[in-house]
Amino acid sequence: MKLKDKIAIVTGAAQGIGEAVARRFIAEGAWVAIADLNLKEASATAETLTAVGPGKAMAVAMNVTDEAQVNQGVAQVAAVWGGVDILVSNAGIQIVHRIEEFPFNEWKRLLSIHLDGAFLTTKAVLPHMYKKGGGAVIYMGSVHSKEASPLKSAYVTAKHGLLGLARVVAKEGAAHGVRANVICPGFVRTPLVDKQIPEQAKELCISEDDVVKKIMLGETVDGEFTTVEEVAEVALLFAGLEANALTGQAMVLSHGWYMK
Ligand SMILES: NC(=O)c1ccc[n+]([C@@H]2O[C@H](COP(=O)([O-])OP(=O)(O)OC[C@H]3O[C@@H](n4cnc5c(N)ncnc54)[C@H](O)[C@@H]3O)[C@@H](O)[C@H]2O)c1
Repeated sequence: MKLKDKIAIVTGAAQGIGEAVARRFIAEGAWVAIADLNLKEASATAETLTAVGPGKAMAVAMNVTDEAQVNQGVAQVAAVWGGVDILVSNAGIQIVHRIEEFPFNEWKRLLSIHLDGAFLTTKAVLPHMYKKGGGAVIYMGSVHSKEASPLKSAYVTAKHGLLGLARVVAKEGAAHGVRANVICPGFVRTPLVDKQIPEQAKELCISEDDVVKKIMLGETVDGEFTTVEEVAEVALLFAGLEANALTGQAMVLSHGWYMK
């Protein structure tokens, strides 16, 4: 088992990509805190994943934009399980508008969840990792960490920002054995994407089928969505390879949508 008895915190893990990452880590023996805004869903996910094992899960109520909640949640995990080895900063939302119509409060809300969330969780876990002499910090970026799309100014800005944060964590953390990397998936069929399909169809005046085939998958090599399992496999690689050889990197998995 690649993560036997490793202690991980995955934010936004009640569903979607975060849940799949937690499931993969637990299959490799990790103990995973399912940190999410939605405690009811997080508890249900933790119960399901613990039943599968061989690792285990606990649910932690956490709004990643709230410093006190982040600090309390991380302290709870460290106290109950004895430290933190892996952070997957994954919680995120999508809001689409043209720039000239983008409400400022929605811009700030999106940036706060992606960037304040990544910063606050990183700040809270690093002392625990430094104490143990190592750790892995993994940010859920996107092809939109590298590419732009219309309507997604806030999301593209936030996802580009995560690359910068990861590189600083890689530099500051190296002396303590802490690596930081970014996963950059293409479109993955989760509730976050399902919500965008009708929104984009309306905004761009095209059919929902065209949003999927032309906008989301049009640039891929095979017209396929990236899957949550594929993203989880890359998270496992970043979590399990305990070497500074692999730090400060951003890995794109997008069925060839982005190639550089
Ligand atoms: N789905 C995709 O196509 C795709 C592609 C690239 C990157 N991503 C990124 O992957 C991550 C997960 O996306 P997903 O598709 O699984 O989304 P999702 O909507 O299925 O799940 C997001 C989870 O985050 C939680 N969350 C939202 N705000 C939170 C907050 N303030 N504090 C704590 N938890 C919060 C939600 O409760 C939910 O459980 C996001 O960062 C997203 O930007 C998604």
